[in-house]
Amino acid sequence: MTVHRTTVVCKTIVCKTIAEAANLLKSGRLVAFPTETVYGLGADARNSRSVAGIFESKQRPTFDPLIVHVVDVASARELVTEFSPIAERLAAAFWPGPLTLVLPKIAEISDLVTAGLPGVGVRVPNHPAALELLRLAECPVAAPSANLFGRISPTTAQHVLDGLNGRIDAVLDGGPCGVGVESTVLSLMTEEPMILRPGGLSIEDIEAVIGPVQLATTDPNKDAAAQMAPGMLSRHYSPTTPLSIIEATSKAIPVAGQKCGLMTYGPVGVTIGFQKIEQLAEFSDLKTCAANFFAALRSLDSADLDVIIARKFPPIGLGIALNDRLKRAACR
Ligand code: TXA
Ligand code: MG
Repeated sequence: MTVHRTTVVCKTIVCKTIAEAANLLKSGRLVAFPTETVYGLGADARNSRSVAGIFESKQRPTFDPLIVHVVDVASARELVTEFSPIAERLAAAFWPGPLTLVLPKIAEISDLVTAGLPGVGVRVPNHPAALELLRLAECPVAAPSANLFGRISPTTAQHVLDGLNGRIDAVLDGGPCGVGVESTVLSLMTEEPMILRPGGLSIEDIEAVIGPVQLATTDPNKDAAAQMAPGMLSRHYSPTTPLSIIEATSKAIPVAGQKCGLMTYGPVGVTIGFQKIEQLAEFSDLKTCAANFFAALRSLDSADLDVIIARKFPPIGLGIALNDRLKRAACR
């Protein structure tokens, strides 16, 4: 079922304190808040009406499950029927941090949160404001990225307002997100741990702790509901300007007769003919690239260009997650 509503009107406030944001969450409201990855749109995960509000305000289809955010490992254990030894090791190594674990859910978690799947995605975010919010709200908080479905993820409070002003109750401003791409989603529901979404924690870092993991292939021809990570649609993170990808080492050449923008991970080389250039990092440092990625994509998208040319990232570490986002952003 797809929830679509075009006229959600409410006044979106900018919270003055974390306590104010926590009280709003407690009373069933929708509050966008900062995490280390991207801004999330939070609701009390135990309150089905509020969770339904997330889908409504984002225009998000209900086959796409939500990640539940908790303040610590003990709170995560309460949401699942089994927190395996592998989960314990990962949590000890990487929480708080950009890792979401999919684990067998307790019956009390509504199907709306998990899109009817047997597993629930949980994570402890590594952001002081998010942790304080979770502590004061005293509830698990379901939160997708705080953007309209399919659009570019938000890494500042202003990005949240650009997409959702008037559709959500409040936003808590915690400044720009440090990591800049969403969490890595790892399912422990399968025989071998499986990466459902590459993200802010590199696969190499995970493998250093638990050994080899599989990488799920999301088949665009498969019905979304039948996929293991249903939200991983081939088209996502989309700018309105067409995006064209070139290889990591290719020379960037503008398209004749078109207003072209360029996004590149490191030193640019020859730039004649580009209207606007976003160089994500001075020396191709992938952490800096990730932190700047979505903001750069937004800035190019609002520059009235005919096409954005984006250079692929080296396929290691965070480059894997960034290439995943690029591929989906280019899909039309
Ligand atoms: O960094 C992040 O993960 C951010 C911040 C706010 O925490 N959240 C985020 O949520 O990116 P969202 O809804 O935009 O993406 C979550 C994705 C889903 O689309 C789905 O692919 C996967 O995580 N996911 C969540 N729960 C799942 C579950 N129970 N089973 C399988 N996949 C799940
Ligand atoms: Mg998202």
